[in-house]
Amino acid sequence: MNILLLGDILGPAGRKALTESLPNLIKQKELDFVVVNGENAADPGVGITKRIVEEFLEIGVDVITTGNHVWDQKEAMEFITSEKRLLRPENLSKGSPGKGFGIYNSKNNKKVAVINLMGNVYMKKCDDVFQAAKKFIQTVQLKREADFIVVDMHGEITSEKMAMGYLFDGKATMVVGTHTHVPTSDHRIMEKGTAYQTDVGMCGDYNSVIGMNRDNSLKKFLSAAYLHAPFYI
Ligand SMILES: [Fe+2]
Repeated sequence: MNILLLGDILGPAGRKALTESLPNLIKQKELDFVVVNGENAADPGVGITKRIVEEFLEIGVDVITTGNHVWDQKEAMEFITSEKRLLRPENLSKGSPGKGFGIYNSKNNKKVAVINLMGNVYMKKCDDVFQAAKKFIQTVQLKREADFIVVDMHGEITSEKMAMGYLFDGKATMVVGTHTHVPTSDHRIMEKGTAYQTDVGMCGDYNSVIGMNRDNSLKKFLSAAYLHAPFYI
């Protein structure tokens, strides 16, 4: 079973790389299931549109996960209700449209569960991510409801993601972090067999500040407002 998970596809550069490379990658690497985080895929680098979702699915993506930017293109709030292959974080506040996990059929006809979670530290306000994960573990069990379980833990800080890795060790096939846009070099198989990496990084323009325009980003950090109210790009 070959599963590919790609971190945040960022803007036109990330989309171009994905559309040009994925169909060949699927053939060459005999990929059975492809998950991409698409929350930065729209032109401004935040949010995702219906057209982009359709494009991704057409070129062989099986599931699209998101995170804090999921609603930045407002149309997503509507079409997510009819497209079950687009996920938003499971621990968004109650009543949010869409779903945070699903069970899908892979290209080789296996059942793959995918859950999208979002950290609580330095992120948009959302429900307790560890409680949401525990609830999921009770609901979807490896080799019972699904042959494989993929966790996209979208979060800012390393410790929170690593703790999530341990919570899922032996209970998920892979726990992979997204959101920081910078890959960590800690990919490994944990003690009970779950594959883990704190962050897989982005698919975007590396000549940038986490995929965004360098000059604009630097201008913001150099502005007088920065020290009074530090912000993220
Ligand atoms: Fe994010």
